[in-house]
Amino acid sequence: MNEHITELQKWQQLFEQEKASKQEIQKLLELKNTELLELTQLLENRVKEEVEKNAHKERILFQQSKMASMGEMISNIAHQWRQPLQAIGITTQKLQVLQWTQGTISDTDIDEMVTKVSAQLEFLSKTIDDFRNFFRPDKAKGFFHLDRCVKKTLSILDATLTNKGITLECDFTKIEIYNLENELTQVLINLIKNAIDILVEKNLEYKHIKISTYLQEEYACISILDNGGGVPKDIEEKIFEPYFTTKHQSQGTGLGLYMSHEIVHKHLNGILSLENMEYESDMIPCKGACFTIKLPLKN
Ligand SMILES: Nc1ncnc2c1ncn2[C@@H]1O[C@H](COP(=O)(O)OP(=O)(O)OP(=O)(O)O)[C@@H](O)[C@H]1O
Ligand SMILES: [Mg+2]
Repeated sequence: MNEHITELQKWQQLFEQEKASKQEIQKLLELKNTELLELTQLLENRVKEEVEKNAHKERILFQQSKMASMGEMISNIAHQWRQPLQAIGITTQKLQVLQWTQGTISDTDIDEMVTKVSAQLEFLSKTIDDFRNFFRPDKAKGFFHLDRCVKKTLSILDATLTNKGITLECDFTKIEIYNLENELTQVLINLIKNAIDILVEKNLEYKHIKISTYLQEEYACISILDNGGGVPKDIEEKIFEPYFTTKHQSQGTGLGLYMSHEIVHKHLNGILSLENMEYESDMIPCKGACFTIKLPLKN
């Protein structure tokens, strides 16, 4: 009997020990669990921080690239303004000459001059309005005509193209889309600027840029083609990377295509691609880069 009791006590002891160690394990598990939760929280915070840092970097890059396009447009406006300012100067000088030679100015002369000066002033003020509108951030998507958007951008770049002896060819299909017009304008400026840069650098006798808008399946497309020789195969992969440039430091930051790619893909829901092309313009064999922006028709 006694034997049985000691056996039972032994079992009980063992059971108690087991219970104690189970409780310990439980406690340990709980401790590890809290540690794990803390670690997860820490990791989540770190990821959040990094994402915010990245977004901040992206905003700075975006701003930097916007400033660059603004600078580009200001220099274009300077070109665009030169001629009307000269015309206004000549008209007012004429007024003085008439006053000297005839001693008086007729009403018709005055009317004619006022009309001329007013037209020039209207043009100057329109350029500035266009410029202001370009850089006003789009608050929301809206309907607009693709061809009109390209024409507006070209109206500011026109004088620069003429100045550099570049032949511009346009082939527009009327297409209405729903998107962010100003952001698209920024991309257009970057792409046209690149085409101008390469043509000036290569200094060919015949300099040509062709801009087309057309429909392709469920996309509205804009392509910008130049005869600057194209993007060399060995850098084709890199051109959309930030800060990649083959230009001198004072001429390029290497942000244009990176930002354009970001805008088209992330903000406009589209695709930006490059294809080197061989073609003919005015019976002249040409070779160059063709950048295409594809924007969804249903957006
Ligand atoms: N139309 C083109 N033809 C040939 N090469 C081009 C063309 N467009 C871009 N590239 C090449 O791609 C590179 C990157 O272009 P990107 O617009 O990103 O920068 P960038 O023009 O050098 O400088 P930024 O645009 O910041 O002033 C250019 O330096 C050039 O070598
Ligand atoms: Mg560029």
